[in-house]
Amino acid sequence: MLPADGKKAISFQHLIANGDLIIVYERHDNLKAIKVCDGSELQNRFGVFKHSDWIGKPFGSKVFSSKGGFVYLLAPTPELWTLVLSHRTQILYIADISFVVSFLEIVPGCVVLESGTGSGSLSTSLARAVAPTGHVYTFDFHEQRAASARDDFEKTGLSNLVTVGVRDIQGEGFPDEFSGAADSVFLDLPQPWLAIPSAGKMLKQDGVLCSFSPCIEQVQRSCETMRLNFTDIRTFEVLLRTYEVREGKTDFGGSENGSPISSLPCKRRQCSSEIDNNRGDNKYSTAVMARPSAEAKGHTGYLTFARLKCIQ
Ligand SMILES: C[S@@+](CC[C@H](N)C(=O)[O-])C[C@H]1O[C@@H](n2cnc3c(N)ncnc32)[C@H](O)[C@@H]1O
Repeated sequence: MLPADGKKAISFQHLIANGDLIIVYERHDNLKAIKVCDGSELQNRFGVFKHSDWIGKPFGSKVFSSKGGFVYLLAPTPELWTLVLSHRTQILYIADISFVVSFLEIVPGCVVLESGTGSGSLSTSLARAVAPTGHVYTFDFHEQRAASARDDFEKTGLSNLVTVGVRDIQGEGFPDEFSGAADSVFLDLPQPWLAIPSAGKMLKQDGVLCSFSPCIEQVQRSCETMRLNFTDIRTFEVLLRTYEVREGKTDFGGSENGSPISSLPCKRRQCSSEIDNNRGDNKYSTAVMARPSAEAKGHTGYLTFARLKCIQ
């Protein structure tokens, strides 16, 4: 999944091999993680796909079933993994994750502490951000969830970058061995204010903490606790607007002044080259249209960032 092999070197594997984890893409809202296994088959509404036909093909290939249907075979990335992982808890999605990775200033080599692990959605992106030489230590008090997350990190090839611990972080704080060792700490806990003092102890000087909470009351209480040891406290809500980009028919014949009339309303329209080339010849042509998606995600939560106060 990541550009990091066991020797902590950057490496990209472009050809699909037996045993690889791949993401089978039917549509943007229909993806599935599959382990390639010579002799196995994938069956879906498009027909039967033999895994053996996939081996040796580059990631990104379009492959066909016996019936002529097709899917794309994509390399697993944290972004795609977030869409296919099994939801054992609420998870962070890519808009919040991107913001977290940037605002926590996570770069290769960083040491990051996280709690709770949940379904490991954020941890997967944290692992890629710290690769190949950094490490993510993530804690959840739920043993089964921690074990499932460990299995997932094995599956995605991240286990050399992420260690999962079982611990009540709100009750006990992070383990003392990480005191002053973390570049950043991330909390997704029901009562984060209980873990904030410990997070402060774990951070290196100038380290950054982030706490994710779905409710503003939790944010306010966390900020009160942060004010004791942290500075530059800022809360954000990341709202993502998704657009659907589709090709549609455009009517060129219906207007008095000869300008094209689109058969579909859209926010911004980009005419395809076909229109420019064929103007005057065809009554209808195609155009690429982008419209706000009806299924846009709304509120997910609030992200509060704070920097450890410098103690002179
Ligand atoms: C919403 S989930 C985290 C989801 C995660 N951020 C993701 O993207 O997949 C919250 C997790 O916190 C864990 N948790 C709750 N209280 C905890 C505590 N006191 N100590 C450690 N983990 C805790 C829960 O078991 C749950 O798995």
